[in-house]
Amino acid sequence: MKKVRIEDLQPGMVLARSIYSPDGRILVKEKTELTGQLLTRLSGLGLPAAYIESVQEINVAELVSDITRVDLIRGLSKLDQEIRAGKKLNLLSNKQLLYSLIDEINSNRNNPLSEFPDIRLHSDYLYGHSVNVCVIAVKMGLKLTYNQLKLADLAIGALYHDIGMTQIPLTILDKKQPLTEAETKIIRTHPEIGYNFLKGNDGLSHVSIHVAYQHHERYNGSGYPRGMAGTAIHEFARIVAIADVFDSLITEKIYRKAKSFEEAVDYIQSNSGTEFDQEMVEVFLKIIK
Ligand SMILES: [Fe+2]
Repeated sequence: MKKVRIEDLQPGMVLARSIYSPDGRILVKEKTELTGQLLTRLSGLGLPAAYIESVQEINVAELVSDITRVDLIRGLSKLDQEIRAGKKLNLLSNKQLLYSLIDEINSNRNNPLSEFPDIRLHSDYLYGHSVNVCVIAVKMGLKLTYNQLKLADLAIGALYHDIGMTQIPLTILDKKQPLTEAETKIIRTHPEIGYNFLKGNDGLSHVSIHVAYQHHERYNGSGYPRGMAGTAIHEFARIVAIADVFDSLITEKIYRKAKSFEEAVDYIQSNSGTEFDQEMVEVFLKIIK
């Protein structure tokens, strides 16, 4: 299969992967042959690209099954709605799914990250991003030979790293124009909000919770909220910082085009030892090959 930009799709091409709505419903099923009408609908969705079957079919190695990915995205979308509605939550409800995710990544550990699904709808961003960050973090954890318990704590921290975003008004998150200084300030409160939110939930390990607080800290002290540096930043947060930036870069945003996989890898590599922990960048470079 190959990735084709929306404007380059042609009637007669066949979808190699289903297209999902933000809440996990199938909008267009895989194996569907594209028609002119369908193409108009797809471009109206704001989707940057789609996977199309190549004439010569190559079997793409998967890291995580579509089923697990969609179930997790659905779980996060439900959680977001419940948080915004002020309901009491069970954050560990996704734990079983996370174990499936870890198992799948483990049994597919020889598959490189370059087969990563990087096409998402804008509105799907937060959930798809959280799952992708979790996949990259777990793959790095496996390279670091973490045991099952450590992997689960890392996976939970990575999955919920941006949970503070659920408290940021949608008017800011969905804004198409550049953010004002005041709005940027509000967005920058999400690590603290996330930390306080997770702290109030039973059963989460404090190392998982620290990921929410520290994932925007930078190795050289240039991050936020506290400007922590070096190994004062928890190892999990140093892993998630790389996963978070990498996945953001390869994602199309309203205000900028996505970088290619190689450009995003270059960015991580060229900021090794400054923004990112050199040792963790080495681990990252091993999982993408
Ligand atoms: Fe964040």
